[in-house]
Amino acid sequence: MNPEKFYITTPIYYPSDKLHIGHAYCTVATDAMARYKRLQGCEVMFLTGTDEHGQKIEDKAKGAGVTPQQFVDNIVTAPGGVLDLWKLMDISYDRFIRTTDGYHVQAIQKIFKQMYENGDIYKGAYKGKYCKDCESFWTDSQLVEGKCPDCGRAVQDAEEEAYFFRLSKYADRVQDLLENTGFLEPRSRVHEMVNNFIKPGLEDLCVSRTSFTWGVPVDFDPGHVVYVWIDALFNYMTALGYQNDEHHDLEKFWPADVHFVGKEIVRFHSIIWPAMLMSMNLPLPKKVFGHGWLLLDGGKMSKSKGNVVDPYLLSERYGVDALRFFLLRSFPFGSDGNFSNELLIQTINKDLANDLGNLVSRTTAMAGKYFDGVLPQEHRFHGEMDDELVKLASGLRDRYEDAMEHYAMHKALDEVFQVIQRANKYIDENKPWLLAKSSEDKSRLACVLYNLLETTRICGVLLTPFMPGSMEKLFAQIGAEEALRTWESAGQWALLPKTVSVHKGENLFPRIDMEKELKELEEVTAKAAAPVQEAEKVPEYISIDDFSKVQLVTAKILACDAVPKSKKLLRFTLDCGEGQPRQILSGIHEYYEPEQLVGKTVVACTNLAPRKMMGLESNGMLISAVKEEPDGTEKLHLIMLDDAVPAGYGLC
Ligand code: MSP
Repeated sequence: MNPEKFYITTPIYYPSDKLHIGHAYCTVATDAMARYKRLQGCEVMFLTGTDEHGQKIEDKAKGAGVTPQQFVDNIVTAPGGVLDLWKLMDISYDRFIRTTDGYHVQAIQKIFKQMYENGDIYKGAYKGKYCKDCESFWTDSQLVEGKCPDCGRAVQDAEEEAYFFRLSKYADRVQDLLENTGFLEPRSRVHEMVNNFIKPGLEDLCVSRTSFTWGVPVDFDPGHVVYVWIDALFNYMTALGYQNDEHHDLEKFWPADVHFVGKEIVRFHSIIWPAMLMSMNLPLPKKVFGHGWLLLDGGKMSKSKGNVVDPYLLSERYGVDALRFFLLRSFPFGSDGNFSNELLIQTINKDLANDLGNLVSRTTAMAGKYFDGVLPQEHRFHGEMDDELVKLASGLRDRYEDAMEHYAMHKALDEVFQVIQRANKYIDENKPWLLAKSSEDKSRLACVLYNLLETTRICGVLLTPFMPGSMEKLFAQIGAEEALRTWESAGQWALLPKTVSVHKGENLFPRIDMEKELKELEEVTAKAAAPVQEAEKVPEYISIDDFSKVQLVTAKILACDAVPKSKKLLRFTLDCGEGQPRQILSGIHEYYEPEQLVGKTVVACTNLAPRKMMGLESNGMLISAVKEEPDGTEKLHLIMLDDAVPAGYGLC
């Protein structure tokens, strides 16, 4: 019995760069699953969206000279953005959430407060490492050669007053969930989570930040914003109406049937997410499935490494369905897969052009040539010759279902293509062109073509979740009406009318000339990359009014000392010409000893909003030059003026 409701999600994407084919991989997989469940008659909720807060977005927006909201809007809703990409790729999502949506922000504030009130969130001080790219906190022991264990990039020291979630309290329950239920798949990821994260000791999780502002504000403690992952994970529930009145589907769809997530974010979904739900006494999702990565030249695609593949370009050249099919046919969903243009073209040529395309075009062409497109009433069945194909095609739906229920989409496709290959062999065995020569064999010829059409119909129904647009065209060619495209019909043989009308149409998947195409592809890829680099060089101007909003003044350092328990922070007492001293904290202890700086004249920004760090208030910022060292690290050099400039003068 199929469940009546099915709730499936993709991760919500960081709109920090244009999405690449690695992102499309997960979304296409989710779409195929959602379509499969709809085909089975389930009421499906397919959620996707964008995860728009965090330091990375704030920094990128700053670099581009726009507000963070403008920055994310430009990647999510502008032409060529995330919404356009999903439209192009035929992604049939039911709901799209943006974490900047007002209802979500308010819901997160309520959730944070409830966890604070129930004692699972408490205030403390965070000291450790932070990877800005992954928005992840790390302890020294978790780093790999001093770098982020997930992405290998440099991490920064993070030290600030923060709220913590009592993750440690839930360690045993989460371990039990992972080890003794089917919550996390594939099973190999369970060992990874338990051995790498839970057994070494689960520490409480830092769940607020104060060093930037682009996040959901903690409403009862201004200056703190909610850690982006807490904000992000709850999207799966707020999008259904949890703690808000925008939507009303929580009862219907929660708990989720499955969260599809990439392997590097399994940790968040299989440890932190269930622990937070336990804390809120909420039902847990039924499953988290951690899929592998699409690799390029053996490495994970990423914009910063410059090795991303553009799904727009490939869809334009080969069609959306061919690309969707390639992604799910070529790589087992739970494992990594190496993307290459050769493999893409090979898969299109072999499976789509040769196997499926040939089956359809040969069958419809013969029906046209020998019967003017309409099969006769009389079909002569030949047990020995027909049984194997009929049996294989009739049982296909069950084998396919078995694979799909285990999220083994490549296996389901393999089952379909075994039948398609068998059908092509059946043509060669029965040699319809010889049967056509004798009028006595016409009824046998009709039966052969009919068997081929029925096989194609069943395969077409089961391929619909993967290639929806192309299968519609296929059904039109083989004369399969709507009623014969259903899940029920895919489990039954001989549903096409005996006198079915066939219409040979366009070639569904034209063959590609590999050598020529690879060369052209190289040229277009190089051309497409060029304007992007040019565009990135264009400076983002600000107006003189923008500039004059920043109050920069000369400041004399009256006193300077290290902030207790902080490795980085120095506390400055400054004369900014205001009649009373001003206190500013600056994270430059790694570069200067306090006594070196007393008496120096520096530059301070005095109209930054006051901020608390390590319990002390900082009223502005000292201006430094950032110099990149040969080893790739950055060093700050305070801008110092000579003694000729007294304190309190404005800079222009
Ligand atoms: N915003 C978080 C997810 C929050 S979900 C509550 C995030 N966003 S992301 O944009 O960086 O990544 C989104 C998904 O894309 C992740 O599941 C990630 O694994 C996937 N992929 C990104 N690059 C990929 C490949 N090269 N291959 C396969 N999937 C990849 O993480």
